[in-house]
Amino acid sequence: MKTYLVTGGAGFIGSNYIHYMFKKYGDTIHIINVDCLTYAGNLENLKDIEDKENYTFIKADICDGERMIQIFEENDIDRVVHFAAESHVDRSIKNPDVFVKTNVLGTLNMLNAAKNAWELPDGTFKEGKKFLHVSTDEVYGSLTEDGGYFYETTPYAPHSPYSASKASSDMLVKAYMDTYHFPANITNCSNNYGPYQFPEKLIPLIINNALHGKKLPVYGDGKNVRDWLYVEDHAKGIDMVQEKGRLFETYNIGGHNEKQNIEIIHIILDTLQEMLPEGDPRKALVSEDLITYVEDRKGHDRRYAIAPDKIKAEVGWYPETCFAEGIRKTIKWYFEHEDWMDRITSGDYQKYYEDMYSHR
Ligand code: NAD
Ligand code: TYD
Repeated sequence: MKTYLVTGGAGFIGSNYIHYMFKKYGDTIHIINVDCLTYAGNLENLKDIEDKENYTFIKADICDGERMIQIFEENDIDRVVHFAAESHVDRSIKNPDVFVKTNVLGTLNMLNAAKNAWELPDGTFKEGKKFLHVSTDEVYGSLTEDGGYFYETTPYAPHSPYSASKASSDMLVKAYMDTYHFPANITNCSNNYGPYQFPEKLIPLIINNALHGKKLPVYGDGKNVRDWLYVEDHAKGIDMVQEKGRLFETYNIGGHNEKQNIEIIHIILDTLQEMLPEGDPRKALVSEDLITYVEDRKGHDRRYAIAPDKIKAEVGWYPETCFAEGIRKTIKWYFEHEDWMDRITSGDYQKYYEDMYSHR
């Protein structure tokens, strides 16, 4: 049985990845989820699998290097999938320090702990061990409207403290591969959307605000472009890279689904109107009148667009969920999980961990 150490598994993509992996591999894998539960970590995201015998949650901070070494000593880890990070650009503009601490020093700790556990006396690594570092397309900087695509060979040019910290963490992983021949991969993915996304990010924020008749803030002219990928496609891509990709390589993951922010907002409003049943009081609240142009984000990247040619050619991955289908699945999920959203907006979700452990 392969043992996976997943960091940041209580967050948006990490929890979707854990669900995906149990769906795919069932009881043939063991997943250890290491997460310190920042504001973005929510164990409720994993409620339906928390009692599985082949799932273990460890509340720990990746910035605690000794604890990471200890976790590797206590468990024979075969795969690391490293998601844990501070992930929101707006927060990084207000408070960059924690981004450097978690994203750069935390990643260094994960590399050191894995190297310590996996390295043999002759400097080679134990057979079959693999580390996958989950990163973002934002490390490549910003494209103009007609400025082509991000390839794995595109030079790094991050602009926000978030993307600069992720770029630094990628460089450390590359340095470990080059210096020690450390068995790793890096994936750089475009913007994700789907279930369990924290409502500070564009898509869940717009869905939630529209359903409550609250303003829909559009930064700048609303014409910044992001390349949206359904989160389950990302989870699948990560697993395929780790199992079928060439070690030491970087793979870009993207949906070929570029949309301006204002287009996204219109699609969400139209889809909400279409999906809300007649007579539902929220139908009257969902309106284009809620769209409110606000001051632009500082240093706002204009356009991101991934060319996923390499992952398609080498690994056979392609995005399965088109945006029209993905956004409907996402909205349906938020309709069915109103209580999940309410517990986040009220702050109650942070009590889940205490309650869960006080009952055991
Ligand atoms: P998220 O903010 O939803 O979740 C982050 C998780 O990491 C949370 O559970 C949090 O508690 C945990 N965490 C934070 N600091 C920690 C620490 N010091 N120790 C242990 N755990 C800690 O983030 P996400 O959107 O799921 O993103 C996951 C990863 O994917 C990140 O590395 C991000 O850079 C990358 N990524 C995200 C996107 C996107 O669109 N969201 C796109 C490409 C890449
Ligand atoms: P976001 O979801 O924060 O992801 P990222 O900054 O990592 O791409 O933002 C996506 C886009 O939406 C980005 O161009 C900023 C914009 N945006 C708004 O216009 N209004 C908002 O309230 C938010 C959160 C984002």
